[in-house]
Amino acid sequence: VIEYRLLLSGVEVFSAPAKAPKPAGAPQRFVVMGDCGAGTSAQRKIAVGISRADADYLVVTGDLVYTRGRVSEYLDHFWPQYNADAPSNRRGAPLLRSLLLLPALGNHDVIGRDLNRYPDGLAYFYFWSVPRNGPIVNPHDSSAPKVDGPAGAKEAFLQSAGTSYPSAGNYSVDLGDVHWTVLDANPYVNWRDAGLQRWLTEDLKRAQRSKWRFVSFHHPGFNSSRSHYDDQWMRSVHRIFEQGRVDIVFSGHVHNYQRTRPIRAGSRPGEWVLDTRFDGMKNTKPNGVVYIVSGAGGAKLYNPEQSDQADTFQGFTVRLISSTHSYTVVEVAGSTTVLRQISADGKELDRMVLTK
Ligand SMILES: [Fe+2]
Repeated sequence: VIEYRLLLSGVEVFSAPAKAPKPAGAPQRFVVMGDCGAGTSAQRKIAVGISRADADYLVVTGDLVYTRGRVSEYLDHFWPQYNADAPSNRRGAPLLRSLLLLPALGNHDVIGRDLNRYPDGLAYFYFWSVPRNGPIVNPHDSSAPKVDGPAGAKEAFLQSAGTSYPSAGNYSVDLGDVHWTVLDANPYVNWRDAGLQRWLTEDLKRAQRSKWRFVSFHHPGFNSSRSHYDDQWMRSVHRIFEQGRVDIVFSGHVHNYQRTRPIRAGSRPGEWVLDTRFDGMKNTKPNGVVYIVSGAGGAKLYNPEQSDQADTFQGFTVRLISSTHSYTVVEVAGSTTVLRQISADGKELDRMVLTK
């Protein structure tokens, strides 16, 4: 734990403890949630739950703040809820002052791209500081989120965001035994582009020295919900994940919890081979990539009528829970990873053990 103090003109105005990243070889615990900053009571309850999880860091699978990713929206229903002075269901919890947060760009985070209508849009690029090691660095790149509006407003945005725009949409970072790759899955990014695929391939190649490889992005490549069913384009890079020996891919976008069987690509495009032997309890060595949707962090739940209704699932899905808001707690210790899905009321909804 690190203690830090914030001084204004030499006077202490704020102090807090912060968690330092765990070194390689040490057990670590992180929380994953998505689709969260909606100003709801569920959002605040989940913040309180997370504050009790004793996590080392927090991963957010996008749609950090609703509905247009504006500075004013962060001020109203993001910072107060995740940086309340004490945990309470009415206010939220003191998370951000003490925890590293790995953000991802959701669709709502980039809706405010018209600076004429939303002068404080694209707040993601002001607020989040992530490693500048992504593949999209030029504002004119066709896979960068396009900024619209009067020339003066665009100029001011570019100046304030600095090199964070557009680079912060994609990055990777090593945290102890875990390599994280975070991607922008919005449809303006062409993940069929050879250059982008090369970056992803190389990133995962370098990550082979890490014990575990996890990926986070917003739009899930495999989804059994009727909502956003047409938005599964990210499965087009599944082969790169599989060849890069990615263990788990985390997404949001669909406001519920979902877990797939371990998935491998078949010999023909669009053909998937499922590891039906893996159960995450007795058989814990997966043959393929497990895809998790953790998008039940505060916004209105999707398809509660499909919750636990296995006859409505695609073959790759083993769990779909949409009866309650929830978040994911993951513990990594040596060759074992334990994933638990926890409800806003603190109940364990699902559990999966992975070993290697
Ligand atoms: Fe969302």
